[in-house]
Amino acid sequence: PSDFTLRGRASAKVVIIGAGVAGLTAAYELGKAGYDCTLLEARGQAGGRNLTLRGGDRVTETSGPAQDVRFGEGVYFNAGPGRIAPWMVTMDYCRELGIPIEAFINNNANAFVHTNGRTVRAKAARADMYGYIAELLAKATNVGQLNRKLTKDDKERLLEFLRRFGDLGPAYDYNGSARRGFVKYPATQNGIQLDPPGSLHQVLAAATGRAITNDFGYEQATPMFQPVGGMDAIVKALTAAVGPERIRTGVQVTAITTREKDVQVTWNGGALTADYCLATLPPHILAKMTHNLGADVTAALKRPVPVAAGKIGLEYGRRWWEIDDRIYGGITETDLDITHIWYPSHGYHSPRGLVVGYYTSDEQAELYGALTPEDRRRRAITQGKKIHGEKYRAELLSDVSVAWERQPHIQGGWARWPAFDSSFTLLQRPSGRVYFAGDWLTHLIAWQAGAMESARNAVTQLHQRVLQSP
Ligand code: PHE
Repeated sequence: PSDFTLRGRASAKVVIIGAGVAGLTAAYELGKAGYDCTLLEARGQAGGRNLTLRGGDRVTETSGPAQDVRFGEGVYFNAGPGRIAPWMVTMDYCRELGIPIEAFINNNANAFVHTNGRTVRAKAARADMYGYIAELLAKATNVGQLNRKLTKDDKERLLEFLRRFGDLGPAYDYNGSARRGFVKYPATQNGIQLDPPGSLHQVLAAATGRAITNDFGYEQATPMFQPVGGMDAIVKALTAAVGPERIRTGVQVTAITTREKDVQVTWNGGALTADYCLATLPPHILAKMTHNLGADVTAALKRPVPVAAGKIGLEYGRRWWEIDDRIYGGITETDLDITHIWYPSHGYHSPRGLVVGYYTSDEQAELYGALTPEDRRRRAITQGKKIHGEKYRAELLSDVSVAWERQPHIQGGWARWPAFDSSFTLLQRPSGRVYFAGDWLTHLIAWQAGAMESARNAVTQLHQRVLQSP
């Protein structure tokens, strides 16, 4: 059963430009309501940024050498989207389409935090910050403003909470905690040897704030999920439901002409006429297309600023992060230019595995993206070695990197609106017979859920119009 269904059937012809997640979702929903959809995709395959790479695949960028993916059997790399929050509509499509999902570990206490050249376990970084903050606040409850603000009961209750929050001692002091882990786990021996924390000064100087709050956001809160076997399970399921024969790949649309009774879409070597058009390309690419939708549409399309983003997949023949470091899934946060290291949330204890050696955006992504694939790997390894040591280089089997700003027909990780102003609302509505969709037209930019929500919004409007037209 579907949570979303267009009510009432129609039979209009719709040409959808772009077979990414927005285009596929739109075709799927319109198809359920009886529409005749054709998807025109400039790339060699559907999916857009929902790209899962496996052995035998090839990655080509707008410049620089192509990369052949040499991963072993069963190894995959989600080069685009990698996690889904449970409240997102993406989960509804997984359910509706029968796509098996599994937990994506977004927060792992046993992963590392690497800041200012030092590596600590995430659990230690958290225990120390929470501990000292709790101690400071406990001491401050009796002074000044706070003293005036709190009743006697409030104070007692706050202290009781702070004792738990920071694992404080009897005098509300933080002196380290078993939460940080042990020098050596006592097991059968008597006596617990705790690893003492640094001083408050040292802990503050470590600047772990971003690292330990990474999953505090609404969109990033644990638990998160991923499709079993690769994110492109969503693309495959949508493609199968839409009908692969409706998707024409390698078709790069050059012009859109909206007319009184129909719309014409042209490409090098062909043209297609339909009742309606849904354009799902990134705004910065749509803005360059020939069209008769008006200068205000072009101006609006030019507003979102494309942002660079990139990832590197590092394949290893031994899952040393599990065996040596006891890291099963999750993310090491760093203040290095790699930003994060992601460990796989699946295939535990299997022979091989793939670590995401960097996941960057903005300036850091531009920096990596400008390098050759070989130099990206070298740089990523040099950085990762600071955390994981020589095995990070020595045990590497193969790698592949994707710089989204260099991906043909995509040219960006995502796009950012300087303001959600009248340009944003203008493109929410059709221009003649042309509708727009994509994550960039929502408040869920850089999420598949944004693409899906936007597709639903566009097809709902289109369908209402068709039902109302004589
Ligand atoms: N959805 C992407 C991610 O989870 C990019 C993103 C990050 C978007 C954080 C919003 C907030 O990494």
